[in-house]
Amino acid sequence: MAQDEPNLKRIVAERAVDDHVRDGMTVGLGTGSTSEYAVRRVGELVSGGLRLKCVATSERTANLAHGLGIELFDINDVPHIDVTIDGADEVDPGRQLIKGLGGALLREKIVAAASMTEVIIVDESKVVDKLGVRTPLPVEVVPYGHRKTAYALERKGCKATLREAGGEPFVTDAGNYIYDCKFESIESPFFLESMINVMPGVVENGLFLNTADVVLVSHPDGTVTKIE
Ligand code: A5P
Repeated sequence: MAQDEPNLKRIVAERAVDDHVRDGMTVGLGTGSTSEYAVRRVGELVSGGLRLKCVATSERTANLAHGLGIELFDINDVPHIDVTIDGADEVDPGRQLIKGLGGALLREKIVAAASMTEVIIVDESKVVDKLGVRTPLPVEVVPYGHRKTAYALERKGCKATLREAGGEPFVTDAGNYIYDCKFESIESPFFLESMINVMPGVVENGLFLNTADVVLVSHPDGTVTKIE
């Protein structure tokens, strides 16, 4: 029987936790609807007696983890992170990613960079031939002068839309705004990233390049495959 979307997210999230989380580890907890299933699985393991130190990639995930009795640590207070399990918005065949539709890209990137293994969990619908074809690229910018920053982003060939929540600009955990930048497709992600990162006002962008060590993909028949 074909699995529905929540089940596809759950299946891949639980597989990632079961395959990669072991007693005594420090674990990064991702953000988003797929990661939420992973956090819930970690909560079950902790309730069952596994001793873990966990680091959350957002306030949203921290609240969820608290409610599940997971002990959270400040990223500055752990020497390293053994494994982080996080979702993504697009994955290409070379394991390059777009992340950030959930708004947590900045902390997600910092946590990923501090992790020995970054495990990305997606369902098949997120796998694309080329980045940018399906989703916009989220770019986190400081509020000051944000329309000027958006103009600079658009000169790179995208339509930049200020993300809103309840009619107001969406504000990230770091107090910034996000522009969702829709390209037709992203032909040279490394070049684009290097151009975006040097723009005044840009804090971080949602291209996660050479970041994922393992990508797990769930399929409608309930199987999970690995992009490697
Ligand atoms: C959060 O900022 C994002 O990077 C998420 O990991 C990404 O948007 C995937 O979210 P879903 O699992 O909800 O699709």
